[in-house]
Amino acid sequence: MRRDHDKEFGRLLIKLSNLIGLSALTTFLLLIIVVIFHLTSANTYLPDLSQVFQNDASDEVPKIIEDDEIWKAPDLASLPATPEGDQIRYGNELVKNTAQYLGPEGSVLHISNGMNCQNCHLDAGTKPFGNNYSLVASTYPKVRARSGVEEDVTRRVADCFERSLNGTAPDKDSKEMQAMVAYIQWVGKDVKKGEKVKGSGLMDIEMLDRAASPELGKAVYIQKCQVCHGEDGQGIKSADSSEYTYPPLWGEHSYNDGAGLYRISNFAKYVKANMPLGATYDKPQLTDEQAWDVAAYINTHPRPKKDISKDWPDISKKPFDNPFGPYTDSFPEQQHKYGPFKPILAAK
Ligand code: HEC
Ligand code: HEC
Repeated sequence: MRRDHDKEFGRLLIKLSNLIGLSALTTFLLLIIVVIFHLTSANTYLPDLSQVFQNDASDEVPKIIEDDEIWKAPDLASLPATPEGDQIRYGNELVKNTAQYLGPEGSVLHISNGMNCQNCHLDAGTKPFGNNYSLVASTYPKVRARSGVEEDVTRRVADCFERSLNGTAPDKDSKEMQAMVAYIQWVGKDVKKGEKVKGSGLMDIEMLDRAASPELGKAVYIQKCQVCHGEDGQGIKSADSSEYTYPPLWGEHSYNDGAGLYRISNFAKYVKANMPLGATYDKPQLTDEQAWDVAAYINTHPRPKKDISKDWPDISKKPFDNPFGPYTDSFPEQQHKYGPFKPILAAK
């Protein structure tokens, strides 16, 4: 009887120790999982936390986070070897080397001024704050105040041909137009409707309290721009003259006075994050003041004229720095061109 009892007790002990062993093992495994999770997730979660806790401590932390979140275009190498892939690749080629196909000596048509789309839409419209195409696919078609009508991507591309490239657009059914539109849509394909992306379009800069000064801008130009864009702003062509190595900034081969860059806010924002060549949004080379002043200087020079009598059918929607009246306010054209803009904005 006693033996049975002992046996029973023995079994109980064994069961108990098994149980303890098992739970110890489980605890141990759980610990390992927690440690591994902590290690791998530390990188992604800690910066967020540190941002919350040391708001003003250093501006390094938010910058790192912004870098992570900054919009990236899809990779051209990911395109399949299909007719659709070929069309998008051709569109990319046309945006990069527009003049070779559609410039004054273009191989397809002679319909534009010799500039490339890429001169203003850097890295073929993929550079953060380089006037990129990130939001085009998700925001067009849309009603634009400049024309007062709904514009699709084809119409928007045509606008840049007629203004920035001071020419005419290829037919909407042409292989070239369709390829450019397909490319531009593809660049923004991962952005959802209504989604805001960091790095889209142009970079915001501070408004000045004074008018932008062409005189101060001239000094900036001589010091920081002239070496590439030339003393006379005419740029420099490549050896075989098929394309500009450095595009013109004014004169008959430049954008016309109906173009986006003729508004000095657009020009200043473009230059701030992109010029002199090599500047980026996080490593700008000009102060905001220099950007405004050089914009004013460059846009005092003569350039081709566009018939803009049909622009801004609702004049109350004109941007503050549209240099052509009539306006709904009483500020003169001169002030709408150079500023000071704060009083104009305050009166809106
Ligand atoms: C001289 C500079 C310049 C050139 C060259 C140029 N563009 Fe533009 N483009 C601009 C500016 C500036 C804007 C923004 C204008 C604004 O918002 O008022 C713009 C806007 C656009 C947009 C709309 C972007 C958006 O998010 O709404 C598209 C699409 C576009 N351009 C396509 C092209 C194509 C295609 C070419 C070549 C055929 C081209 N552009 C050549 C300056 C240029
Ligand atoms: C080291 C040479 C270099 C310097 C310096 C330089 N740029 Fe540029 N700039 C370029 C090149 C190259 C492009 C065309 C970029 C491309 O096609 O990828 C360009 C394009 C531009 C454009 C858009 C295209 C056009 O011709 O309208 C503007 C505006 C511009 N630069 C303004 C400036 C200003 C203002 C400065 C001085 C603050 C400046 N750049 C300094 C090389 C330079």
